[in-house]
Amino acid sequence: MRRGPQTVASRFAERMEQTPYLKHAAKKKAGQAAKRTEGENDMRIIRCRNYEDMGKKAANLIGATVIRKPDCVLGLATGSTPLGIYASLIERYQDKDLDFSAVKSVNLDEYKGLGEDNPQSYRYYMKENFFRHINIRPENTHLPDGLEPDSAKACADYDAVIASMGQVDLQLLGLGHDGHIGFNEPNQYFDKETHCVDLAPMTIEANKRFFASADEVPRQAYTMGIAAILRARCVLLAVSGRDKAKILKEALTGPITPEVPASALQFHPNVVVVADEDALSLF
Ligand code: GLP
Repeated sequence: MRRGPQTVASRFAERMEQTPYLKHAAKKKAGQAAKRTEGENDMRIIRCRNYEDMGKKAANLIGATVIRKPDCVLGLATGSTPLGIYASLIERYQDKDLDFSAVKSVNLDEYKGLGEDNPQSYRYYMKENFFRHINIRPENTHLPDGLEPDSAKACADYDAVIASMGQVDLQLLGLGHDGHIGFNEPNQYFDKETHCVDLAPMTIEANKRFFASADEVPRQAYTMGIAAILRARCVLLAVSGRDKAKILKEALTGPITPEVPASALQFHPNVVVVADEDALSLF
């Protein structure tokens, strides 16, 4: 993938001026970036034939992390994109290829107001689509508490959980149509840590398919911040479908701006993009 005329370092420094809380990281990264030559990027893009192939390849990468480090910390995501990944991981667990008994997980987000008994909550999604099929210990799985009405408390509690886990070894991400990651919606600045977010109309529209109607989609969610996501050792961005092609191109090759939250991934030194032909149709 080619960069524009600016170097990685200059793009980084410029954007960081506008996101003061990341200045410290910027100094360090700008140093690393300066060593790269213009036009280079260490983001790896794995082109997959289709959704199924994407699921298998992403599961292979997650599986490799679990094999290499049985007590790893996995950052997990929801949405329809990861379903094939979880199905593939479950198969590998059933084949006795993978053991999750020492794995810890920390999810990106949860709808405010929804608890684990609500089939639309992400806690329910994770249990149904992944956790109950593998041998991960329930006490090792973490999501923000959607039933905590006090947003400040819910976010502070989740930040404490994240801090207690140590560095996330691999953070799985999907991509929203407006460029959101987790529930970090387009904004004037990159949100740092866990916060309560007002969901964008485009997100409510996209996610209403999981609810009886758009009216039932919660208007707020708790989400891990961009800074927390960027602290992961490795980020695995999974993207599928032609409807994501434009935003994927923008996120990976466009300007780094909080108006496209996923563009922050250009700051990260170890991103692997696993995407199908449709999602990569503009590359
Ligand atoms: C939700 C989640 C995101 C996810 C996005 C895309 O909004 N909070 O983490 O990446 O949906 O979902 P999908 O994979 O269904 O397109």
